[in-house]
Amino acid sequence: MWQQVLTVCAEKLQPNTGLEARRLFHGRGHCYPGLEHVVVNWYPPYLQIALYAPVESQQINQLVRNLLDIADRAAVQIDGVAVQFREGRRTVTKEWHGSVPDEHLVHEHGLAYWIQPKRNQNVGLFLDMGHVRAALADNMQDAKVLNLFAYTCAFSVSAIAHGAHSVVNNDMNANVLNLGKRNHLANHQDMRRVRMLSHNVFKAWKKIRDYGPYDIIICDPPTNQRGSFVAEKHYPQVIKQLPKLVAPGAKLVMCLNSPFLDNDFLRHQMARWVPKFEYLGNYPPHPDFPEVDVERGLKVQDYRFR
Ligand SMILES: C[S@@+](CC[C@H](N)C(=O)[O-])C[C@H]1O[C@@H](n2cnc3c(N)ncnc32)[C@H](O)[C@@H]1O
Repeated sequence: MWQQVLTVCAEKLQPNTGLEARRLFHGRGHCYPGLEHVVVNWYPPYLQIALYAPVESQQINQLVRNLLDIADRAAVQIDGVAVQFREGRRTVTKEWHGSVPDEHLVHEHGLAYWIQPKRNQNVGLFLDMGHVRAALADNMQDAKVLNLFAYTCAFSVSAIAHGAHSVVNNDMNANVLNLGKRNHLANHQDMRRVRMLSHNVFKAWKKIRDYGPYDIIICDPPTNQRGSFVAEKHYPQVIKQLPKLVAPGAKLVMCLNSPFLDNDFLRHQMARWVPKFEYLGNYPPHPDFPEVDVERGLKVQDYRFR
């Protein structure tokens, strides 16, 4: 069973692997029966293994040894391996091999982002959105961008790098926005073009509106964050605000990451509350995140305001 993890990782850990962060193995998409609980991420020169169910230490030792051998054969340097144990809401990360720093700069499409591989469940960069950031790059020139649920501002960094006029980032968590600021600085970007609003979005509409109207809006809320956002209840409330925020012809990227809500949920809500937004299609899942059932994975829809 573990052989599949090694085979898939070996395909990606090649002598020409380069320095980009990427997901090496994505068991969560149910494409590898029996390995739904296993994820391997590559944050060069560190590996992170995330386990969503208990695995015996002996098995982890074997997996790590085999991964180190694969890297060795491909002349890829690994300085440390962190194993993240995720059981329910509790997350514990252990250094399993070598040492892994508290903070580390990784690259996606040539841009730098800080990650904190030992601190939180989410390390600081959502790799499954990387292809959407890349796809948006061509639309960014001179655009005024709104990044809702901005987290560490990866969309903002990419937008500014591709010529956006300005970006307003909103996230209720001031700590992630601080990391977002450091992400912009790591890329030597002009902070005068970037605004950080650390508010609960439902209390910040006026402020957000005042900095608009926006040519591009990215909306990537959590599925279910206790006390702050429950997709079924709160997504319609966000959608209803959109007409007040957009410039003519604006582009919208709407994300939904619930295994229990499908594409139709979001499309119906959009058609119901903002029929002037034309649905253009879905972004395909990131190639490193294969899904047996795309309706259960991350859904990213593309709209245009008419
Ligand atoms: C899925 S993450 C966004 C990921 C980001 N788009 C990226 O690609 O890096 C969701 C974010 O929503 C924020 N959040 C949750 N509820 C919120 C609310 N009611 N108002 C503002 N931000 C909220 C969380 O703090 C979290 O950073």
